[in-house]
This record gives sequence, C-alpha cells and structure tokens, in this order.
Amino acid sequence: MEIRQLAGALGAEVLGLDLTGQIFDTDFVAVRDALHVNGVICIRDQGEMTPEDQLAFAARWGEISIHPYVPSIEGYPGIMKIYDPNPITQTWHSDSTHMSDPHAYTLLLARVLPKVGGDTMFASAVRAFQSLSPRLQDMLRTLSAVHEGTSLAADAGLDHEAVMAVHPVVRAHPDTGGEALFVNDNYVTRIDGWTPEESQPLLEYLYRVIGRYENTYRHRWRDGDLVIWDNRSTQHAVVGDVAGEERVLHRVTIAGSAPA
Ligand code: SIN
Repeated sequence: MEIRQLAGALGAEVLGLDLTGQIFDTDFVAVRDALHVNGVICIRDQGEMTPEDQLAFAARWGEISIHPYVPSIEGYPGIMKIYDPNPITQTWHSDSTHMSDPHAYTLLLARVLPKVGGDTMFASAVRAFQSLSPRLQDMLRTLSAVHEGTSLAADAGLDHEAVMAVHPVVRAHPDTGGEALFVNDNYVTRIDGWTPEESQPLLEYLYRVIGRYENTYRHRWRDGDLVIWDNRSTQHAVVGDVAGEERVLHRVTIAGSAPA
C-alpha cells in the first residue's frame, strides 16, 4: 500500500489496497492516520466493491448513520445515492451539522461518472482557522453558531427542533486536537445570541477564508474512487458543471460526537 499527498493543503491518495477482501488492522490504522493528517483521502481502484463491501468497510470507522430525512437506496440502509450537483451540495459545508452529533466521516464511492465535470472541492477548515490573526481566533473561540436543517427537512415533515443544533464556531478535533472553523453556509443561520443581520458579515468573511484556493484540494473523480473525508476538519462542495450526463455516487456517513 502506498499513500501519496495530492495537494499542499489537504488530500492524499491510497494505492494498492483492495477493499473487497480482508483488510488487515495495520492497513486500516495506516489509512485512518492518513485521513486524520490529510483531511480527505481517495482509495483508488475500488470499482469492484459491492454495497455490502462498502457497508462492511464503513463499519470499521464507527457506527453507520442513517440520514434523518434522505432515504437510503433500496435494500441497503445507510447507503445514500448522490446524483446531480444541487444548491445544497454545491455550497461549502460539512455534513449534517444541524444534528447535535454531526457525522464524523463520509465515504463516497464513484458509481457512474460524467466524462468531465462534477469534481468535488475540499477545504481544510484547520488551515483556514490557522490563517486568522490570534485576536480574531480568540474571539471566535468564545462564540457558538445556530445550525438549522435545510428545506429538505421541512419537506420531509420533520419538526424544526429535531434538525437544529448550537455548536462552537471553532471545534477541536477529538483525535488530533487540531482546531477548525465549524460554520457553513448550508446550515448556519446566525451566531448564537446575535441577529442574522449582525451575524452575516462575520460568517461571510469566514466562508471566504475557508474557500481560499490555498486551503483547498479539487478532486477529479476516476472510476473506482472511494473518497473519505473527515467532517470535523474539512468542508466540501461539488462543482456544478455536469452538462446533463449521469453522475452517481454512493455515500455512507459515520456517526460523530458533539463538537467541543
Ligand atoms: C455531498 O455533499 O455529500 C456530495 C458531494 C458530491 O456530490 O461530490
């Protein structure tokens, strides 16, 4: 097995690992350590993986989370079908931050790819935080933000309180201790105790910092790619340039803990 860095900010690829067979603990630990260091990893050449293989590998990472309002694919609870880029997936975010315990990891397996387009952008929320001046970092450490479910939750008839959470604006990674900005434009509606109008300029500034080119890695999908990201330290957004072609990926998310 070989692990190669793909960009300066974040991102690495793993070569020479077959996830359809037995996965030794030493290999798994090396992959998990690489993910914690690099924020996002791509395990190449996994096109032979069945849904059962994907669920079995996902279970090595923790408890598989069933999405509260997006249905799983038939027969495989926990696997969600991701297709055309849409306004939610095209906005920088980490997954399901409206939950009290947002997802720790996401595993996304390429099933059908367009000839070109539909790349996924990743950003290091740790580097973004580190790039701020110490006084601003200190101020942000004192703040929390209100996260609310998107219109999809309301469409599914969920009670608003069930898809709402307050999280610190800066969270420490439970394994690495790295501090990351933990606000995103999909779910955050305001800084806790501030009005939306007061919150917007600061939030927009932080979103701009997260998306600065030097904090990002752009993943150009290849057949067989299994991409795994750490939702505690990164954000992602899909590039909406798929011209009418099919794009299907299978997503599994792993339960996380309350940000602190
Ligand atoms: C997602 O936001 O979970 C999906 C990303 C993608 O479609 O590449």
